[in-house]
Amino acid sequence: MAEHTFLRGPKDWWRQAVVYQIYPRSYADQNGDGIGDLKGITSRVPYLKELGVDAVWLSPFYPSELADGGYDVADYRNIDPRIGTLEEFDVMLETLHANGIRVFVDVVPNHSSDQHEWFQAALKAAPGSPERDRYIFRDGKGENGEIRPSELVSHFGPTAWTRITEPDGTPGQWYMHLFAKEQPDFNWDNQEVRDDFIKTMRFWSDRGVDGYRIDVAHALVKDLKNGHLPERQSYDVSVMKDDGTDDLFDRDEVHEIYASWRQVYNEYDPPRVAVAEAWVHANRRAAYASEKGLGQSFSFDLLGTPWNSKKFHDTIDYNLKASSKTGSSTTWVFSNHDVIRHATRFGLSDEINKNLPKWFRSADRESQINFKQGLERARAATMLILALPGSTYLYQGEELGLHEPLNIPSDQMQDPQWFRSEGSISRDGCRVPMPWTSTGSSFGFGPGGAHLPQPDWFKDVNVEKQDGVKGSTLEMYRDALRIRKDLVCEEKLTWVKHWLNSNVLHFKRPNGWQSITNFGTKPIKLPKGQVQISSQPLVDGKIAPNTTVWLQS
Ligand code: NOJ
Ligand code: CA
Repeated sequence: MAEHTFLRGPKDWWRQAVVYQIYPRSYADQNGDGIGDLKGITSRVPYLKELGVDAVWLSPFYPSELADGGYDVADYRNIDPRIGTLEEFDVMLETLHANGIRVFVDVVPNHSSDQHEWFQAALKAAPGSPERDRYIFRDGKGENGEIRPSELVSHFGPTAWTRITEPDGTPGQWYMHLFAKEQPDFNWDNQEVRDDFIKTMRFWSDRGVDGYRIDVAHALVKDLKNGHLPERQSYDVSVMKDDGTDDLFDRDEVHEIYASWRQVYNEYDPPRVAVAEAWVHANRRAAYASEKGLGQSFSFDLLGTPWNSKKFHDTIDYNLKASSKTGSSTTWVFSNHDVIRHATRFGLSDEINKNLPKWFRSADRESQINFKQGLERARAATMLILALPGSTYLYQGEELGLHEPLNIPSDQMQDPQWFRSEGSISRDGCRVPMPWTSTGSSFGFGPGGAHLPQPDWFKDVNVEKQDGVKGSTLEMYRDALRIRKDLVCEEKLTWVKHWLNSNVLHFKRPNGWQSITNFGTKPIKLPKGQVQISSQPLVDGKIAPNTTVWLQS
């Protein structure tokens, strides 16, 4: 592997970190208004410390109208008053740091909220003005500009164009939004936009933030030159060009922006780190993960990998080889605030997983979940990725083995994807507030209610119920993270072949740490070595189906 000195040594804390994602509005509510807050997070630092995570990543907590759960940011250098204040942020950061936990914040550079002062100024200004140039305003087609400028669809469906009313009350220009209409896209050809994000990076880095998760990192630069407008009917990566010339996504020029951010990150000691959320062709992730760029890029490949040892092997192997070329470390993730919780996904058949919106729309969706199998596989899969070289991103609540809450009535849904896709799928389930206790109006989330309804079964699945209980998912996560801290070593892996059983996935790390997963339906023999932890109890000394065991040889 090429030696990338920048990424090595005492500054490389992030390379194999376990990063725990917090969705602030749904973690812990200190004042009882039903919305999680910074004081709530601070109150849970002892829990996070005991869990043993190296860092937390906070989804957006900025002032927002919540058209997209906070990914519509009205002010990048402030805190939503419903969530807290900058002083409370500093206290939270200090408390996390004092407990050895680093902090990533989420930066959303592709679009702002329509409530952002720049967008409000653009609405009041004239077509062609500097205010409008910070966003992507265009005249409509047709005699009176009544036809939208292009057929571009929004990620949340249907169109990516919304028409405004000009200050004089007449129907006016249109603006582009790849997501909800409340999320106007910035024009990254505008220098003021570029300068403002540098300011934002410095603002949070000066406060002591350790890292950044960059939202839709591949979308910032679009080909808008000479009146060109991108057209797109689908957001599937397969329709995207993979040579840096796609007119909407993953254009080569986007890396100039990240190179300028990298210069800022490197002004700090230790250098600030960043991870790109970039839905691009796998061979294009390297540039985002480069040491001259953001430094790390999410791989979401395992989100779509079925429960099959060969498929897991191939996905993992590909990602490890890819990262060895950049010198960055790989990332592993099964759950986040955008996808159905992985305990539930693993409880659904491969067929259903290929078309989750269809399942989501079906009246009997719960009866299609094998809850036991889902949880067993989720536990085994998580232990597997925790043993791999690279960093692991966990999502709040997965340490309790939570399934996806499916009880939210449509009139209480909040996700714009739900509204704009005519009820195809909603991300609200995985955003339901955390259950901390078995009783109480919001299962310990706070002294009041919860902003999304929690299911009754939270009385049986919560922190209180699992704390100190041997075999619980919470205790499995705590044990695994504790053991991992001692075992984590050089970022290498050797596959151990099991010629007679294709349902086994087995690998060794350079220090003798082994992980073996049984993807099959029959127990398998335990290889030689000392058992460190098993995701399910051994059966007559054998590894049960849907189980991962760590050994030390
Ligand atoms: C990705 C975020 O994870 C998602 O929650 C959000 O809706 C979009 N980006 C738009 O910001
Ligand atoms: Ca609150």
